[in-house]
Amino acid sequence: MITEKEGIFYLNTKNTTYVFGVTKFKHLEQIYYGTKLTNEVEVGAVRYKQSAQTGTTVMYDASDENYSMDTLPLEWSGCGRGDYRCNPLEAKMPDDTFITDFTFQKYEIIKGNVPMQTLPSAYGTEHETQTLIVTLFDEVQNVTLKLYYSVYEACDVITRRVVMTNHAVKAVSIRKIQSMMIDLKYRNYDMVTFDGGWIREAHKHTKEVTYGMIVNSSTTGSSSNRHNPGFVLAEHTATQDHGWVYGFNLVYSGNHYSCVERSNRDLIRVSIGINPHCFEWQLKQDESFETPEAVMTFSPHGFNGMSHQFHDFVNHHIIRGDWKGKDRPILINNWESDFFDFHESGLLKLASQASKLGIELFVLDDGWFGERNHDKAGLGDYQVNHKKLPHGLIGLSKKVKAMGMDFGLWFEPEMINEDSELYRNHPEYAVTVPGRKAVKGRNQLVLDLCKKEVRQYIIDQVGTIIDEAELSYVKWDMNRHISEMYSEALLVQGEFSHRYIMGLYEILQSIFGTRPHVLLESCASGGNRFDLGMLCFSPQIWVSDDTDPIERLKIQEGLSYLYPQSTFGAHVSMAPHQQTLRNTPLSTRFNVAAFGCLGFELDLKQLSPVEKKEVRDQIIFYKRYRELLQYGIFSRHEQLRENQKSWQVTSRNARTALVGFYQTLGQAAVGMDQLIVKELQQDAIYAVSTRPQNLYLDRFGGLIKHAMPIKINPKGVILRTANQVYSLKDCVETYQASGRILEAGICLNDQFVGTGYHNNMRMLGDYGSNIYLIEQKIN
Ligand code: DGJ
Repeated sequence: MITEKEGIFYLNTKNTTYVFGVTKFKHLEQIYYGTKLTNEVEVGAVRYKQSAQTGTTVMYDASDENYSMDTLPLEWSGCGRGDYRCNPLEAKMPDDTFITDFTFQKYEIIKGNVPMQTLPSAYGTEHETQTLIVTLFDEVQNVTLKLYYSVYEACDVITRRVVMTNHAVKAVSIRKIQSMMIDLKYRNYDMVTFDGGWIREAHKHTKEVTYGMIVNSSTTGSSSNRHNPGFVLAEHTATQDHGWVYGFNLVYSGNHYSCVERSNRDLIRVSIGINPHCFEWQLKQDESFETPEAVMTFSPHGFNGMSHQFHDFVNHHIIRGDWKGKDRPILINNWESDFFDFHESGLLKLASQASKLGIELFVLDDGWFGERNHDKAGLGDYQVNHKKLPHGLIGLSKKVKAMGMDFGLWFEPEMINEDSELYRNHPEYAVTVPGRKAVKGRNQLVLDLCKKEVRQYIIDQVGTIIDEAELSYVKWDMNRHISEMYSEALLVQGEFSHRYIMGLYEILQSIFGTRPHVLLESCASGGNRFDLGMLCFSPQIWVSDDTDPIERLKIQEGLSYLYPQSTFGAHVSMAPHQQTLRNTPLSTRFNVAAFGCLGFELDLKQLSPVEKKEVRDQIIFYKRYRELLQYGIFSRHEQLRENQKSWQVTSRNARTALVGFYQTLGQAAVGMDQLIVKELQQDAIYAVSTRPQNLYLDRFGGLIKHAMPIKINPKGVILRTANQVYSLKDCVETYQASGRILEAGICLNDQFVGTGYHNNMRMLGDYGSNIYLIEQKIN
């Protein structure tokens, strides 16, 4: 996997090669990152020929007037030695300058990888991964940099990180230190980022990489719903399945910063790491600083190729413990049906409905403790509210379990309300800065995770309740951005944001590392902290507080570029949706949520008998194809119409696939639709069928008189009653076709175009959708 020959390092994965070498002045020159090289001879050809001196550049050494740091493709750079591009390191060094010049000292190749001391990182066995450690040294400053490269061969991923060690007597003050830097040769690249905000996370945006810098960063104290740390660099012509695509991400949940810069010499510098915003870290003599781990992948097979590699990497080298590769349970969460207003008796009715429908896990959300009857009080006081739960958590837990379901609970452990016993007893636990009134988010303050006693309080509180209430699931929420980044526990306040995240990881490890049977779903007002750092502890993350499936199409699709569907918490909720007032069919709510870890977040008691039957059928279907939906190869389809989207999951043996076909706004007299299914065996014959779903009578409005043999008032009591107990069957199509023909696309029945109804007509309208099952026929 990793070899070295004459000062050149070759990092090979199954399908890619990464090459860099040591220059004559001992800098690390980036040579190549792309499809697999088969012959070392190619390196000479592919390497940059620094054969001319460029005007106004700074010559590194008089013995070679062409050698300039500014024009070389590099693996690492520093300040003040002639490289004027975006720098990975800015630090006040022992000599009181910001100047650094790290040169090659030695290297080591080891099996497996090296776990980090302060942060979570990817893992792999000695057979799955190898690590190259390159030591660089700045002899003027007496400071060492170790660059770690771990190669995850099977999934075509390479990770990188840096450890700085100060050997000098005088401290280093680090202002910026990135986890990696690479200079790629120029192509017409776009940078694709995943941005948004609360209830509109991870929307995909594409920016042309032109001269100057594009920055993707967060400053909220978390990886943020504004800009996910993961991003993509793709050839402008790349499609879902073709073209060069590089993916980058960071195993980190705090403020992140990535920069893509096209230099005046057409090199594309990419760097990623901790955000230097308000960052300062004191490194005393013999101390080391570890950066978070950066993750890179390359695929010549378009965005899907890149995503498949990232998905495999997350499933095999990030998710750990008992839940690695394990089916996620179907859950009911009571938040959208109850908010803070519930009692054990109502919860048990909900649980009873849930268990009858086949749901496997009952989750009690916010409001079960202290005076938490609204979002202005109670955070921090994890003593059960006996008015709501007269038999305590264990009473509820036992009754839920007696119904055949597991029991899970919500916490927001990092936060505190001023109106709480905890605050009254320990105001010093909250993050505030002397002399200023703290600004609040959702009426709450942040607990100071830089303080050991605060971390211990959280560990004790949450751990005790998990054990006493026999929880098998925890939802770990975090509902505000961080402000007043100050802790009296720190001497250097620029360390606050990073130490907060280190504190969070220590807490998570301490609670869940010792209780690996507990499924942790992390949440931060939905996807405000959807990142690889949290995924090292929580195998699934609540994608968004937006449960409207039409919004989820954008959110889940955005995340799918970087993360596998096994990590997506996705729920069917009541329509009109609480976030958008949009009314969507129950079938579409399921058809979108099914491409994730399915849950329900609605008052099941309010469903009509016919809706309950539909939910029961959805759950049976999901259980049958759960492994495929959670762990199958997930691919996006090229969007052929701007109002339609299509997703696919395929089994590893290409025998079974499911395709979700979604329509946002309907269009009048639309032409034929095609079902395209890729990644199948070309010559095999497949049976195609639509997943059966209901078509409710009220969908027709005044047109009902054309669909029904008798004339009835669309707003009258007869239709309302009939709608409770009866529905039409939505159009089901069945076909047989080879993998080849399915890839070309088969024609589906026409959609309703305003000229009468029969049951071979696809009734998508606004927000309609179907799931198609494609199964290989075995003779
Ligand atoms: C925000 C979460 O994202 C919601 O799902 C819910 O748990 C609320 N917090 C509870 O306060």
